[in-house]
Parts: sequence; structure tokens; C-alpha cells
Amino acid sequence: IDRINIAIDGPAGAGKSTVARKVAAELSYVYVDTGAMYRAVTLLAQRNGIGPEQAADLHKLIEGLDLKLQPTSTGQKIMLHNEDVTELIRSREVTTQVSHYAANEYVRQKLGDMQRELASHKGIVMDGRDIGTHVLPDAELKIFLTASVKERARRRHQELNDSNYVPLEQLEAEIAARDKLDETREIAPLIQAEDAVFLDTSHMTIEEVVSYIVKLGQSKL
Ligand code: C5P
Repeated sequence: IDRINIAIDGPAGAGKSTVARKVAAELSYVYVDTGAMYRAVTLLAQRNGIGPEQAADLHKLIEGLDLKLQPTSTGQKIMLHNEDVTELIRSREVTTQVSHYAANEYVRQKLGDMQRELASHKGIVMDGRDIGTHVLPDAELKIFLTASVKERARRRHQELNDSNYVPLEQLEAEIAARDKLDETREIAPLIQAEDAVFLDTSHMTIEEVVSYIVKLGQSKL
């Protein structure tokens, strides 16, 4: 085979998107951030005043979903009904609510189908929570990327600036709460796939993690 699919799963703030983007760039693969897709659905639902528990309304909303991912030189652009929402989906309002919407079966079904379609020609690095277990169970390389919750909160905290400042303790609590929701939901919960390589990055640099995964990927070719 000349191209493989790489699935990178793990809890919030483990560095999945940074790592996945760089791995994709090194291999000339396409990076797909599935968390961004759940975030876009969350934004759309919030704008329409639909709460995560309103299953019937969510189902209807999802049926008419127009969501496109456009690869760019630095990552990907998220187009929701032809509007660029790449920045908007990073708001705290979305971040603190997304796990509730992501537990909905129609949402997961629809986005999962889209993700499988995107990966059907191989050469994809996809990050998320259930990629190795549910979306791409046949991915040639699966990574479970994690770090201690303290370290993950610390990294997120460093990225903040004056306008979006959140105290470290609060960030840590929010990350832990999101992990718990993602790990305990009924459909496709966050869990390490049996055949995934476990990688605790608490004491690794991004470059170390990237080159390790690239080597593993090349060994599959
Ligand atoms: O990766 P990110 O932190 O942007 O993901 C946001 C949320 O989307 C996660 O906390 C999770 O609830 C949901 N998600 C998911 N399955 C995926 C990717 C993300 O349920 N494959």
C-alpha cells in the first residue's frame, strides 16, 4: 500500500490537533479535525435555540446540515452553510456545551458517515474521540494520545490571552468535566482502541510526538 489512514484519539487538550496537523504535513496527507465538526453542529444548534436534549429538533437540523471542511496550508477551514466558522467554533459557549450535543445519536451517525467518506481514499490523519474504535476501525495506524489533566490544562492556559482569559483551576475543571461526559456517554464513548498505540505526552515535546508517529506510519507502508 502507498497510503494509509491514521486515527488519533484522546481526551481534550492532549495536543491531538497540533500533532495530527504536523503529522499530516510531513506525510503530505490531509488532516481532518472531527472535533471541529461536532463544534460546528453545536454552534448551529445554539443559533437555532435547540438544546442538546431536544432530540427531534436536532434530528431535523442535522438532516439539513451543510458542513464542509476545506484543507488549507495551516490546517482546515470549517464552512457551515457557506459561512466560515473556523474561529467561532472555538468559543467557550461552544466548548462547554459540545459534549452534550456530541452524545446525540443522529449527530454521531451523520458526522461519522461524513468522516468515513472523507477517509475513503486513504492518506488521512483524523483526530477525535472514537475514530479508532468506531469511525475507522480499519485504520492502519491508531494512536491514543493523552497527558495528565494538570498538564493538559496547563498547556491550554498558556495559549490564552487577556481577551479569553480563564483561571487555570477553572480550565482544569472544565476539561475534566468534558472528559467525563465523553468517556461515559452511551454511543461511541472515548476509550482506547485495543490495537491503538498508547502515548502519554506529559513529558514529551510536540516534535518528539510527531516524529514518533510519522515513523510508525512509515513502518506500515
Ligand atoms: O477535539 P475537540 O476538543 O475540539 O472536540 C470537541 C468535542 O467534540 C469533544 O469534547 C467531544 O464531545 C466531541 N467529539 C466527539 N467525537 C469525536 C470528536 C469530538 O464526540 N470524534
